Amino acid sequence: MARMTASVYTSHVPLIGVAIDNDLTQDEYFKPLFDGYQIGRQWATANTPDVVILVFNDHANAFALDIVPTFALGMSETFAPADEGWGARPVPSVEGHPALAAHIAHSVIRDDFDLTLVNNIPVDHGCTVPLSIMYDRPSSWPCKVIPLFVNVVQYPIASAKRCLDLGKAIRRAVESFDEDLNVQIWGTGGMSHQLQGQRAGLINQPWDQAFLERLVHDPEDLATMEHVEFVREGGSEGIELVMWLVARGAMSDLVGGKAPVEVHRHYHVPASNTAAGQLILEEANPH
Ligand code: DHB
Ligand code: FE
Repeated sequence: MARMTASVYTSHVPLIGVAIDNDLTQDEYFKPLFDGYQIGRQWATANTPDVVILVFNDHANAFALDIVPTFALGMSETFAPADEGWGARPVPSVEGHPALAAHIAHSVIRDDFDLTLVNNIPVDHGCTVPLSIMYDRPSSWPCKVIPLFVNVVQYPIASAKRCLDLGKAIRRAVESFDEDLNVQIWGTGGMSHQLQGQRAGLINQPWDQAFLERLVHDPEDLATMEHVEFVREGGSEGIELVMWLVARGAMSDLVGGKAPVEVHRHYHVPASNTAAGQLILEEANPH
């Protein structure tokens, strides 16, 4: 059977992708950020899964505002990097896993989550920057990726609790897939940031640090957080952090298993106008 072995949480700031694509990671500005990614990169190389379920939001690149699905699963064989206005990033296309995606769709929809299914859709920095953070610049990505799009751009947005529960449903789906696959789930976005309006540039380090701590040790309690707190404390785009709850929901301690092992935690300010965070949690017993 397929196994959920680890969860990864990371910001997906476009500027981080620009730094990687243009060999700027050792520049004075970027070096402290990338120094903090080294352990994660080593871990990612030593623990490359067969499939990553990559939870992110489209930033009005693929969906614009014509269609706004709350949750959408990528079913295709491949997903091209999106042109976000200045040409597509020079990164490989993402290869999907249609059979596992179809199984997840069946299982999760029968678990009462009304997923939208998408084919032939480009993936923006929300998906490609986390892959670059973990795998640098390979000629092809080292694993299959099933993109899971979460709307955090146009209200109404799913609650943190709904996101955590979706993660639990995804775990059930993966663990009932009849093929021996090593699967990770990654939640991306955040941390605190606001890109617009009077509070543009907002970063709230104590709140981010507390978020990381609660995400590791008390995710059920963290999932009671209301949107108004995400936005008040974490900025208008800090709401992206709800996607970290999807990944956290897929860990076995939420269904009676052992607490996951914290492999790495990294927090750096600033990356662009954003607080960048990263967390890696491994299952204690990935059987
Ligand atoms: C920026 C954009 C993002 O989508 C994000 O998550 C963080 C930062 C930016 O434009 O700087
Ligand atoms: Fe974003």
